Amino acid sequence: MAEVQFCGVSRRYAGGLEALRNLDLTVQDGEYLILVGPSGCGKSTALRLLAGLDKPTTGEIKIGGSTVNDLGPGERDIAMVFQNYALYPHMTVYGNLAYGLRQRKTPRRDIEQRVREIAAILEIGELLDRKPGQLSGGQRQRVAMGRALVRKPRAFLLDEPLSNLDAKLRTQVRGELKRLHREYPVTSIYVTHDQTEAMTLGDRLCVMSKGEVQQIGSPDDIYNRPANTFVATFMGNPPMSLVPASVSGGVLQIAGAAVHSVAAPDGPATAGVRPEHVTVQPAATAPDAAVGAVVDFCEPLGSHVLVHTLVHVDGEPARVVVAAPPGTFYDPGAAVALGLSPEKTYLFDAETGSAVRSRERISLG
Ligand SMILES: Nc1ncnc2c1ncn2[C@@H]1O[C@H](COP(=O)(O)OP(=O)(O)O)[C@@H](O)[C@H]1O
Ligand SMILES: [Mg+2]
Repeated sequence: MAEVQFCGVSRRYAGGLEALRNLDLTVQDGEYLILVGPSGCGKSTALRLLAGLDKPTTGEIKIGGSTVNDLGPGERDIAMVFQNYALYPHMTVYGNLAYGLRQRKTPRRDIEQRVREIAAILEIGELLDRKPGQLSGGQRQRVAMGRALVRKPRAFLLDEPLSNLDAKLRTQVRGELKRLHREYPVTSIYVTHDQTEAMTLGDRLCVMSKGEVQQIGSPDDIYNRPANTFVATFMGNPPMSLVPASVSGGVLQIAGAAVHSVAAPDGPATAGVRPEHVTVQPAATAPDAAVGAVVDFCEPLGSHVLVHTLVHVDGEPARVVVAAPPGTFYDPGAAVALGLSPEKTYLFDAETGSAVRSRERISLG
């Protein structure tokens, strides 16, 4: 196991596309780090550079403190599991697990011990005599993990390993990955575009967009203290709603309502609210600080109802989604008022989208 470092790593492809721009990232020894972002943002590029399957245009990659830029994939002592975890179909599970060790001329008894050990951790001990064709998707997945982990790599790279599984199995295997890492805490970098996987699996998340890091932090940091509007709207389902706003005399103004005071400079801003932090009530009963909106539609989800509303700012509608208690219903077009909590309303720079950190926010009722 080892620490992994990207130091100013960029990768420019022929044709001029910079798939990865100046990546600075340290993954601690034994940490589970998630690289998350939309398709095409450079996640696989970063993993391939680390695995030695591709070379950085600039920058340095270190494993265990030493530069590995000039080492081939076989010399880096890293294991990788891809989306298509092709197992050898003619070999048994045992054969698949033992293959890498046999290649390395590991003594037979050590192979046997290591295979049984990893099979026990992955709970596939009873499957060792089967062929991949006789396994379920989830079992094949575990064999692929086992094959990667059996030779005790210094780091474990996973590129969207669950995307070929159906939704139910994905949730189950996600839980198993967490357990596996607890029992076998090898430094892991896990790539996904799925924000739920990222939030549930990671010790830390590195959120990327268009080849660049947007924010690195714990799931709590990323969710509760997003660095910008990209992170704010990427993490969370449904995502945070953004509304054009302004700060005037230290008071946040949205669609004509003086919402609450903020410690932010006067001028235009973008306000952000998560569905669970907004309340909705009929317009007639609303306090002055509430923001007027019109209901678009309601989505009952059992545990709560998502009320989709439109706030009109300078004639333009901005969608604000509210997670309301079960049983909530409004007719489309109903006039409502939204209550925004001072602690849970985010402010972003209207131009750059960067978070505006305000220290104190006082409710005006
Ligand atoms: N070999 C390549 N040649 C040219 N462009 C590539 C190559 N591999 C990836 N890209 C481009 O680099 C960008 C990042 O790709 P990738 O790292 O695979 O994204 P992700 O894994 O986040 O979906 C994409 O725009 C992709 O089309
Ligand atoms: Mg990819």
